[in-house]
Amino acid sequence: MSNAIEIDQLRKHYPGAENTALQGLNLRFKKGIIAGLLGPNGAGKTTTISILCGLVHQDQGTARVFGLDSRQDIIEIKKKIGIVPQQIALYPQLSAQENLEYIGRLYRIPLRVLRMRIAFLLERFGLTANAHKRIHQYSGGMKRRANIIAGLLHEPEMLVLDEPTAGVDVQSRTMILDFLKLYNEEGKTIIYTSHLLEEAERICSDVAIIDEGRLIAQDSPGNLVRQAEGCNNLEEVFLYYTGRTVRE
Ligand SMILES: Nc1ncnc2c1ncn2[C@@H]1O[C@H](COP(=O)(O)OP(=O)(O)OP(=O)(O)O)[C@@H](O)[C@H]1O
Ligand SMILES: [Mg+2]
Repeated sequence: MSNAIEIDQLRKHYPGAENTALQGLNLRFKKGIIAGLLGPNGAGKTTTISILCGLVHQDQGTARVFGLDSRQDIIEIKKKIGIVPQQIALYPQLSAQENLEYIGRLYRIPLRVLRMRIAFLLERFGLTANAHKRIHQYSGGMKRRANIIAGLLHEPEMLVLDEPTAGVDVQSRTMILDFLKLYNEEGKTIIYTSHLLEEAERICSDVAIIDEGRLIAQDSPGNLVRQAEGCNNLEEVFLYYTGRTVRE
């Protein structure tokens, strides 16, 4: 089993929605890589991630994580993957320490181990001095970093991040990307979405471009640039495949 993700003919239409979010998406990502899931607004990135981690159910098709079915084996899947959602998933009135202890206990991590991991990760993400500050007092970059820590507490084999660098400054972004590279060097699979194509080009070995709920192109950033006529970088490749029409 060398694939971390196997998605076949995935379809999803949200009740009452105008567009169909996923229209037969097929996608594979290998184990041990940093992969980018890219696409314009409304392409279906968050829906895909939500199905993989059991938050949303598909209408048709299958989604597998390390060979486990997202509809049947969700408890096993949740042990293996860490999800970092697009929206900050922390209680604003609690401190980072309180949020992380609460989340870690949901994973049934023994308190002593949990506190050691929290201390290590807060330090790694530059938040130690603000550990006891309430989340609503955090800057955007601090919230993003704390949000990532929440996905890491159970030391998942794969980290799935939805726009982890959206709205953060260069310093926070660099810290986040450096961490993702290090975590990947420990053999972990990283899958992330981003609208920052230069960033994806820099850290991903495999990139999938999706649009209107379908896979449009997938390869290494270098190969994608070589294959798309007249394109010099991933941003141009992205526009080549997805066009210039502004989305929702
Ligand atoms: N809960 C929902 N109810 C109805 N429609 C939804 C819901 N969530 C998403 N959609 C629709 O499904 C489609 C795919 O949305 P999704 O959030 O997966 O896109 P995305 O690629 O993550 O976009 P973005 O880059 O803006 O985050 C869009 O047309 C969106 O409007
Ligand atoms: Mg999204």
